[in-house]
Amino acid sequence: MSLSSQAFMQTMEARISFSDADKALLKANAAWGNSIALQMAEVFYAYLASDPEMNQILNAKEGRMHRLNETFVEWFGEMFTGMDDWGIAYAERRWRIGLVHVQIGIGPQHVVPAMATVVHEVGKQLKSAGLSEDLRDALGRICMIDLAFIEQAYVEVSSQAVMRETGWTESLFKRMITTGAARMQ
Ligand code: HEM
Repeated sequence: MSLSSQAFMQTMEARISFSDADKALLKANAAWGNSIALQMAEVFYAYLASDPEMNQILNAKEGRMHRLNETFVEWFGEMFTGMDDWGIAYAERRWRIGLVHVQIGIGPQHVVPAMATVVHEVGKQLKSAGLSEDLRDALGRICMIDLAFIEQAYVEVSSQAVMRETGWTESLFKRMITTGAARMQ
């Protein structure tokens, strides 16, 4: 891959201002995260299933929904623990999650509202548990980093595929996009 997942992680941390204080707060609340993970998964997949297109993707393979519940719970917990302190393992895992979604044909129009559902629901859970606004902000920031990985995977895979098929260089490809975007206005 042309993208270094670790470098991307560091850039996103800086751009989103995901701080050491956020990390400490998430770690301190990891047990609470675990305690609501299953409920979060239920809300998340009920939301996806309410959309005809996403529901079809969810049920396209035997056992998919069952697997997804488990992977969601794992993913949710990892936002609190940071796996390896939000290091290489975390970045590679997020990049891989991005690739899995690109392979299944899930794009920004699916992923952005899905992440908004997570942020909204976790906000409700925090409120009813009487937890701090700071924790909500920290969770919001790590959710946005995870979202950026899935979105960037989509862009990287699409552009790499076109360049491989056509033999275009990156600068030619970028020029074509700029021209194409200008024509679409
Ligand atoms: C907030 C956004 C999302 C998160 C955090 C998320 C999380 C995950 C994770 C952790 C995996 C497992 C990846 C792996 O196998 O390594 C996965 C797979 C998958 N996700 Fe998502 N997902 C999101 C959005 C969506 C959306 C919008 C759909 C649309 C239907 C979707 C459908 C799927 C499917 C079908 C798989 C593969 C399941 C399988 O057959 O193993 N996801 N997702």
